[in-house]
Amino acid sequence: MRKIKVFDTTLRDGEQSPGCSMNLSEKLQMARALDALGVDIIEAGFAIASPEDFKSVEAIAKTVQNCKVASLARCTQGDIDAAWNAVKGAKYPRIHVFIATSDIHMEYKLKMTREQVLESIAKHVAYAKSFCEDIEFSCEDASRSEWAFLVKCCETAIKAGAMVLNIPDTVGYSSPQEMFDLITYLRANTEGIENVDISAHCHDDLGMAVANSLACIRAGATQVECTVNGIGERAGNASLEEIAMVLKTRHEYYQAETGINTRQIYRISKLLSSITGVPIAPSKSIVGANAFAHESGIHQHGVIANALTYEIMKPDDVGIPQNTMVLGKHSGKHALRDRLSQLGYEVSKEQLDEIFVRFKALADKKKNLTDHDIEALALVDTHAVAATYELLSHLVSTGTDITNLACVKIKKNDEIIEEVAIGTGPIDASFKAVDKITGLDITLENFSLNAVTDGEDAMGEAVVKLRCGNALVTGCGLSTDVIESSIRAYINGINKIVGSKN
Ligand code: KIV
Ligand code: ZN
Repeated sequence: MRKIKVFDTTLRDGEQSPGCSMNLSEKLQMARALDALGVDIIEAGFAIASPEDFKSVEAIAKTVQNCKVASLARCTQGDIDAAWNAVKGAKYPRIHVFIATSDIHMEYKLKMTREQVLESIAKHVAYAKSFCEDIEFSCEDASRSEWAFLVKCCETAIKAGAMVLNIPDTVGYSSPQEMFDLITYLRANTEGIENVDISAHCHDDLGMAVANSLACIRAGATQVECTVNGIGERAGNASLEEIAMVLKTRHEYYQAETGINTRQIYRISKLLSSITGVPIAPSKSIVGANAFAHESGIHQHGVIANALTYEIMKPDDVGIPQNTMVLGKHSGKHALRDRLSQLGYEVSKEQLDEIFVRFKALADKKKNLTDHDIEALALVDTHAVAATYELLSHLVSTGTDITNLACVKIKKNDEIIEEVAIGTGPIDASFKAVDKITGLDITLENFSLNAVTDGEDAMGEAVVKLRCGNALVTGCGLSTDVIESSIRAYINGINKIVGSKN
């Protein structure tokens, strides 16, 4: 069985996609979760892009203990210096150097000839190698590059010290057979390729990123580049969870496996969605709400008779909570910690104390707390920040043909402030009342409300995306009352904004 290395680029290619930007502490949470998931390499960012990007790559490099940490760099000394300075504190640092190799990119974007591109590869891969042993080199737009020229680029990079050759389908244009043929051709014609890792990096513009990545693996690629929930430029990158589960479920066919702890998949997928506020489509493979739901009578009958009739994977394989044990208001901290740990959440004593307070408050309203409730409580903790503003109470008056009015009472440090506002609906009125209290100029960029559990006493999870000047934050709130969860999400976002200014 071949071991395929998983190179996760959620924090670089993924973070580049609209609505997916993360702040430093959110990136660190993701990096820790990726490390626990068992990825081999985390691409932590593009260090030269901004001082914030540099700081997050540097912080991730110093935090992550098990996997390699890479930073992206164009073929310039400035980019490579920044990448190295950012990753040099890592236990296992990597510099990822790239340049475009397709005629269209070289002519219109780089304005360089083929010879100049080859010279640049030789010079900059060698420059990166003077700092760092582990160098990855990418031929951007490889799938639309001329194959014979691609061989020259790869040979030049290998001679200059690259240990990994990445072959991206940058614009998501290729078909699986074409990617298979390209990798096969490179393996047959590139001198020294047998001594380096070959990597696949496929985008999903035509919905073939995962199929293309798997075709590369079948053709001999030893590394695959992907992102959690498939987030990434335009239509996204190949989805990590899909590749990991294909290789787990069909390892005999592919004769390959990854080191991913698949039982952490659901958790990290939820974590990313909660951090970015980008919901997961119900029909999304592996992690969507319907991925394991058997709705039709024929399917249900088959699954009851023998699960294998319709089930090729078990929800448990990806760590989906099974509601096996129900907690209630008499459950103690030990039971809560055990349940959290079974769901994949290892929490510190302080975090447990905070989750326990919310657990007790919820258990007063709901008789039985399911795994989904417990998970939601843990995810809210993901957004915990110093609370400058704290919701004390709210009251709304709403209905058809009457003015929607909200009265919100908030504690700001030791001061208690109450404001009334009208709006187009009860939530809008409540947010306006909060704005009157804080005096901040907030734009609500996105708002979503989802039921976390089933049934009448389901909890509503509200996620807001707020902009205030340059700051863009995600706020999260949870309650059995959807107006309360919305106000909590709004205040959570505001606390993040205030925190980032201090
Ligand atoms: O899609 C792409 O080509 C990339 C490279 C920078 C590796 O993201
Ligand atoms: Zn990419």
